[in-house]
Amino acid sequence: MTQTTPTDGAMSVDLLPPDWGERVRALADERDAVILAHNYQLPEIQDIAHHTGDSLGLSRLAAQAEQSTIVFCGVHFMAETAKILSYDKTVLIPDADAGCSLADTVTAEQVRAWKAEYTVDGEPPPVVVSYVNTTAAVKAETDICCTSSNAVDVVASIPEDRTVLFGPDQFLGAHVQRQLNRENMHIWLGECHVHAGINGDDLRRHVEAEPDAELFIHPECGCATSALYLASAGVVPEERTKILSTSGMVDRARRTDAKRVLVATETGMLHPLAKAAPATEFVPVNRAAVCKYMKMITPAKLLRSLRDGVSEVDVPPDVADRARASVERMIAIGTPSPTAE
Ligand code: 13P
Ligand code: SF4
Repeated sequence: MTQTTPTDGAMSVDLLPPDWGERVRALADERDAVILAHNYQLPEIQDIAHHTGDSLGLSRLAAQAEQSTIVFCGVHFMAETAKILSYDKTVLIPDADAGCSLADTVTAEQVRAWKAEYTVDGEPPPVVVSYVNTTAAVKAETDICCTSSNAVDVVASIPEDRTVLFGPDQFLGAHVQRQLNRENMHIWLGECHVHAGINGDDLRRHVEAEPDAELFIHPECGCATSALYLASAGVVPEERTKILSTSGMVDRARRTDAKRVLVATETGMLHPLAKAAPATEFVPVNRAAVCKYMKMITPAKLLRSLRDGVSEVDVPPDVADRARASVERMIAIGTPSPTAE
């Protein structure tokens, strides 16, 4: 047995057989399971998964999968979304404590109160748009979900005279508002602790040191605003500044001719980017941007999940039905296809 220490700095030591990868794939076959991994997962998890991609792309793959079991290597809200879209399947997550600091910034009760605050007698009710980084209970209170890659299109699809309540990510909300210049839009002040830690100062330092590098920025980043400002001020050429979802980054990496790319998002992203464009060097804007929740999924936990059928993700049927409607409305508006392999 080899010993591995989880890269998130956890105290526990996992015991892992050297042939763990073969065992994982054999157990997946036995259990009729497909393994899905988010772009921020540990490299060894991404490499052993059947498919990698962004949060929504993976959920859509889950819904289309022929297998009866889905093992979701990502955080809990993503596994819940997979369950909502493929309710008849068994959905497993290798560590049920893999949460999300952004999803934790808003509850279903708070969304109900927010809607009531903006409901005016005799006028149509406000339209709630929620980022997919939310619990199933929040999705059930939502009119239309969105992801980082289609948030602008989703809000643009809402009639001009309707008030929009956008949550929970304030940076993504600010990005959408800037793109659409929409005044009747209110933004929830939530944030992801990882992306909020990538700030404008980090970005400016890197950009000034590397004037030829392309910039990939996730719209959840605190620096997305600075990036657009720097681009409009001519500090970085606008055509080199790309605000992209995680799958959008992989697609762009395949097409870029830049020698160096500055990457402003969680550092797990460096692995799929390097695979997509081996000749390009990808440089993180903040090396400390690590999501400890994503890194809770280790090879040993994946092995145990497949062996013991743990931990099963469940969503009450009435919550799942209402949440599904908001996700399906988003899909009807159109979402980019996943970068799954
Ligand atoms: P994507 O949907 O772009 O993969 O992002 C998910 C996420 O959790 C970002 O932090
Ligand atoms: Fe949540 Fe942030 Fe981790 Fe993404 S990076 S899963 S938004 S805590």
